[in-house]
Amino acid sequence: MSDPTMKAVLFDRYGAPDVLYVGRRPRPAPGPGEVLVRVRAFSVNGGELAARAGRVRLLTGRRFPQRVGLDLTGEVAGLGAGTTGFTAGDRVWGVLGRTSGFGSAAEYVAVPAERLGQVPAGLDLVAAAALPVATTAVTALGDKAGLRPGERLLVRGAAGGVGNAAVQLGRALGAEVTALARAANLDFVRDLGAHEALDHRAVTPAGLGRYDVIVDTAGSDLTAHRRLLAPGGRMVTIAFDLSRPVASLGAIAASAVHGSSRIRFFSGNPLRADLDALARHVEAGELRPAVDTVFPLKETAAAHRALEAGGVRGKYVVRVD
Ligand SMILES: NC(=O)c1ccc[n+]([C@@H]2O[C@H](COP(=O)([O-])OP(=O)(O)OC[C@H]3O[C@@H](n4cnc5c(N)ncnc54)[C@H](OP(=O)(O)O)[C@@H]3O)[C@@H](O)[C@H]2O)c1
Repeated sequence: MSDPTMKAVLFDRYGAPDVLYVGRRPRPAPGPGEVLVRVRAFSVNGGELAARAGRVRLLTGRRFPQRVGLDLTGEVAGLGAGTTGFTAGDRVWGVLGRTSGFGSAAEYVAVPAERLGQVPAGLDLVAAAALPVATTAVTALGDKAGLRPGERLLVRGAAGGVGNAAVQLGRALGAEVTALARAANLDFVRDLGAHEALDHRAVTPAGLGRYDVIVDTAGSDLTAHRRLLAPGGRMVTIAFDLSRPVASLGAIAASAVHGSSRIRFFSGNPLRADLDALARHVEAGELRPAVDTVFPLKETAAAHRALEAGGVRGKYVVRVD
């Protein structure tokens, strides 16, 4: 009989990356409408670091072991009752839902079918793991900000997981892109397509220009950056400062008086249509995976440590062999 368990990355208490270890959990069985995915890779996301460190324990609770991993690429290994749209062996990608929490850092995961899409042909499944969260950039620039050709776009956190995709897409959509990143990453963001790259630690908001669209992945100084909007401008943030949550949420709420030029916060929840839109951007050559380093599963803690240290170029990806 095949092994009913699988490897999964777990932690038994909140803390530094060292709390992560590879343990064994029961292999999930796909429920009705779900797909069992043999995971090939996942990436490390900023939000997971906060969860692992216990900075959002009001949401993550006190039950252990807990899991990590939010996005995934892999192959369909089984279908739950009534699940349609996929067949065994399909190459898929997706992001786990708000209610299912973390858990893609494992050999297998059961995912609602509507949360998965087909990976474009020819795209390596390990590299492709850098892309599912790029759906956040697609939504930010599209539905949320309505970026138009010729507009001036400012991307904060431009070298990061979401930011690198915002730079690539902004350029592809015909915007004039200014990227804020650390000095060591300025060439990287220029290579992604930024027309202008500025060291975020050397400029203050007052030293920046006027922008039609601002995509913020840093979450700090939101009000000062909102003031950079040109008339009719739109600002989208996907982050807020966890060290000052009340101030960040207050800034977002207070900006409502500015109407369409308020600070728009949103939380991505990508479904099949979003993943298909992502695939079309990849197929059109508008978006490519930016992989900083690939780690093996047993070094997931090192991947967390690397992201926490700062300076990422795109995504840290973890391979599940
Ligand atoms: N709402 C949503 O749907 C959603 C989806 C995905 C992520 N998020 C959140 O968005 C944030 C970014 O996620 P991510 O995965 O892209 O993280 P990431 O890969 O760690 O990227 C964050 C980037 O922000 C940069 N940065 C930090 N402080 C900055 C500052 N003051 N000015 C300009 N840039 C700064 C970092 O640069 P250095 O490395 O040089 O410091 C890094 O490149 C996280 O808080 C995450 O939880 C939200």
